[in-house]
Amino acid sequence: MKVLWLLHGVNLDMLGKRPVEHYGTVTLSELCAGVTAHAASRGLEVRCFQTNHEGRLVEQLHDLARGDERVDAILINPGAWTHYSWALHDALELVACPVAEVHLSAVAEREEWRRRSVIADLVAVRVSGKGLDGYLEAVDRLAEIVGS
Ligand code: DQA
Repeated sequence: MKVLWLLHGVNLDMLGKRPVEHYGTVTLSELCAGVTAHAASRGLEVRCFQTNHEGRLVEQLHDLARGDERVDAILINPGAWTHYSWALHDALELVACPVAEVHLSAVAEREEWRRRSVIADLVAVRVSGKGLDGYLEAVDRLAEIVGS
């Protein structure tokens, strides 16, 4: 099976406690379980990773870029790093596989500063404002791209 890395950044471990109007009630472990089950039906095996430390995410991407671990596609929700982490941009750029950027909330309809994504130029798929369904949509699109 091809391998999909599901990467989550800062504060996303707190899903379930964050503002319900933006993020719903789903927890990170429910999200990972939902994505894992759906991805399996599309021929993708999921590896889940979350950190609140920007450098740790950068190092994880370095490991993937070096081929230390198999990766065929990445689905990433970087949280607030989306909007300003050029370090994340440069690390993601090193990994040669299709990437989907997903946000639970409708980032384009919230504060001005959430409208910018510093990784937008690197990603093949962008979905926001659809909660867990948006993740499943992104999985479908990645599965098509990688031909799993
Ligand atoms: C988020 C949107 C970001 O603006 C925010 O900082 C998050 C979550 C989302 O999933 O909607 O932490 O990425």
